[in-house]
Amino acid sequence: MIGAALEPADEIIGDSYECALAGHTVHLAIFDAMGNDMAAGLTASLAVAACRNSRRQGAGLAKTGEVIDRILTAHCLARKTDGRPHLTPADHPTDQGGLSGPGASNGSAGAFTGAGPGACGCPTSGTRCNSAAAGGRIGTASRQEFEWGAQRMNTVAVTGATGKTGRVVVADLVQHGYEVLAVDIAVGPAERAWAQGLGVSLQCADLTDHGQAVDVLSDAESVVHLANIPAPGLYPAAHTLATNTAMNHSVFLAAAHNKLRRVVWASSETTLGLPFDVPPRYAPVDEDHYPYPTSTYALSKVLGETAAEQISAWSGIPFVALRLSNVHLVEDYALVPGYWSDPQARKWNLWGYVDARDVAQACRLGLTASVTGASSYVIAAADTIMDRPSAELLAEVFPDVKLTREIGTYETLLSVRRAGEVLGYEPRHTWRDSVKI
Ligand SMILES: NC(=O)c1ccc[n+]([C@@H]2O[C@H](COP(=O)([O-])OP(=O)(O)OC[C@H]3O[C@@H](n4cnc5c(N)ncnc54)[C@H](O)[C@@H]3O)[C@@H](O)[C@H]2O)c1
Repeated sequence: MIGAALEPADEIIGDSYECALAGHTVHLAIFDAMGNDMAAGLTASLAVAACRNSRRQGAGLAKTGEVIDRILTAHCLARKTDGRPHLTPADHPTDQGGLSGPGASNGSAGAFTGAGPGACGCPTSGTRCNSAAAGGRIGTASRQEFEWGAQRMNTVAVTGATGKTGRVVVADLVQHGYEVLAVDIAVGPAERAWAQGLGVSLQCADLTDHGQAVDVLSDAESVVHLANIPAPGLYPAAHTLATNTAMNHSVFLAAAHNKLRRVVWASSETTLGLPFDVPPRYAPVDEDHYPYPTSTYALSKVLGETAAEQISAWSGIPFVALRLSNVHLVEDYALVPGYWSDPQARKWNLWGYVDARDVAQACRLGLTASVTGASSYVIAAADTIMDRPSAELLAEVFPDVKLTREIGTYETLLSVRRAGEVLGYEPRHTWRDSVKI
């Protein structure tokens, strides 16, 4: 139980607060909208509402400050004097996350979260640490950051959400307790019904437009970015390059703009030299067999990985690129026996594939894996799509390509070892569970 009151009540106009107890965590925010007029009262009330809403979505201190400022600005209540946000975290003048502002002359607000008595090193933990020494406050802030981190990871925007892979990824994240903000340009009644059935919000946006990308990511803590033209040959080559590049840059920069925690995104196996009209240099092909784009689609993914590297360095956000193999849904497995008679038919990706449920697993692992900077991982099934031993297939179709290590009988020739070691990825699904040999 937690309670609070401001007094003397008849003099309070521009002051307000909101508090909540979540498990062992106390959330307390105090707002001081300067002045004794109606505008001060409205400002404080709106700030409380925005703060509460943001907190309930799992946002942390810095994000909550940004949200409040945006809402106040949208309702013309922000009193800006120099174009900078006017919201100031009281007693936290250098708080991380962009909450700094011109200061008390424009009104101020402070928010504090204590993780139970003593967690911030202040004897008055659970209320504002007005008396805490500077060193104590810094320690407190990093602790809060750490504890809120777990909650922040819960709100994930998924782009390309209504597509083939996106639907499976969204369902998996929901199943694992994430709050999902689904985004796609293809949104009709069927898509809305699908989203409603899963209990996720679905937003229609054209992600080639940076403004729209900034907007739809503003309430997310992380993004799984799947939206793209998903293959070469669907559109004229230049259109695929321009569209995917615009979309990737716009989403990556929007993630940096919104200070997201993590970007996980769909790169492609095509960056590794597909369709192998020129044989691979070695097998199993791994992450180091890169970059060999042979189409504008593959080039768009290589450019995406290059941009991710730079934007990650500028922003400090970890970017996880998943070089997906050919994605299969369970219903696609009916076609698999048709591939077996001709080993040439699917040599283009060394007979690789990946089950969409394993893509979802990789996306989920990518959200929490202990990585920094921009990194890339091949994501494939554990086996090939063929019913013949992998070494035999390679020897017949690519006789000059050497195996770099011993492989299992039906083992994939697209190495998932790095994904296993770094992300903890373990492909669990195979066509063998659906097709009788
Ligand atoms: N399917 C595969 O075999 C495969 C293999 C490797 C990589 N990938 C990558 O995985 C991702 C998902 O592929 P998929 O097979 O699910 O494709 P998909 O076409 O089924 O899904 C892509 C989604 O992106 C959306 N989209 C396209 N342009 C958009 C825009 N401007 N703004 C917002 N949304 C937009 C589409 O409406 C679609 O729902 C893509 O990035 C693709 O390049 C797919």
